Amino acid sequence: MTKEKIIIDCDPGIDDTLALMYAIQHPKIDVVAITITEGNSPVELGLKNTFVTLELLNRRNIPVYVGTNEPLERDFVSAQDTHGMDGLGENDFELAEPIIYQEQSAAAFLADYFSKQTDTSIIALGPLTNIARALKANPQLGHNCKRFVSMGGSFKSHGNCSPVAEYNYWCDPHAAQYVFANLGKKIEMVGLDITRKIVFTPNHLEYMKRINPEVADFVGKITGFYFDFHWHYEHIIGCVINDPLALAYFIDKNIASGFDSYTDVVCEGIALGQTVVDQYDFYHKPANSTILTSVDTVLFWNDFMTVLLHAQKSVVAHDLETLGLNS
Ligand code: RIB
Ligand code: CA
Repeated sequence: MTKEKIIIDCDPGIDDTLALMYAIQHPKIDVVAITITEGNSPVELGLKNTFVTLELLNRRNIPVYVGTNEPLERDFVSAQDTHGMDGLGENDFELAEPIIYQEQSAAAFLADYFSKQTDTSIIALGPLTNIARALKANPQLGHNCKRFVSMGGSFKSHGNCSPVAEYNYWCDPHAAQYVFANLGKKIEMVGLDITRKIVFTPNHLEYMKRINPEVADFVGKITGFYFDFHWHYEHIIGCVINDPLALAYFIDKNIASGFDSYTDVVCEGIALGQTVVDQYDFYHKPANSTILTSVDTVLFWNDFMTVLLHAQKSVVAHDLETLGLNS
């Protein structure tokens, strides 16, 4: 089976970390590189947190490139209130070996890579700062990347850092607006409309403990802080794991569905960072995005838990169904 080649641009980040664990271990995926953007945590912590995952999975061989803590125009505002001051649930994990990252900047690497390669997709799990800078340097990036999936934005769901804005596009709205306007390929937008339906709960963790205690121990450590945040701010028991859904949808398009639309991003004022989805074509502009609006949670949980737990899919599917953990 030919694996799909991807580059993950991310801001680890608790849910980014779950997405990295999922992608790196997935039998259908070849993670050719990881680029770090500012977001949940400053890039230096995102870099360290990436190596926590690479060491856990014994995959320090995946090259890692680093961006800057500078959105295109806004001052950087992290989400360490949500992910912890260390960006990974206040665990301050120790690394066994020194961090080795690539000299070339994330944006320069992406611009160069997509001047030559046409067989690789981009999965963007954070603010689009690196992507926008790379696109400015290489206008062919969108044409040459096979698919572009972005966890970000919101069509009709309420925001998570303002009444209308989702964090990734709020953190760097100018980058998001530039990428939506200039990528030249439909952005497959996995927004809050569907990620809010993916809530990892203490019962999911209890199930993990019974199937793979070692994985459950790490997942439990990084999600504890996230559970507390979600109880305090969204009054739910569990945590919304946005980023793994973007990967799952990339791997199997049947996991989510939606519609094509022209989308723009608000870059000033009270609605800063909002995605304006022109579902009814008021602006008469060509569709630049696919907005995902419904999700098959059973397909998601079966694949995500199977890969993370290194388990047999038929067993996991049966367990999740009988335990009510797949909806
Ligand atoms: O709004 C949720 C998104 O912002 C997720 O990607 C989370 O990791 C943060 O980057
Ligand atoms: Ca993220």
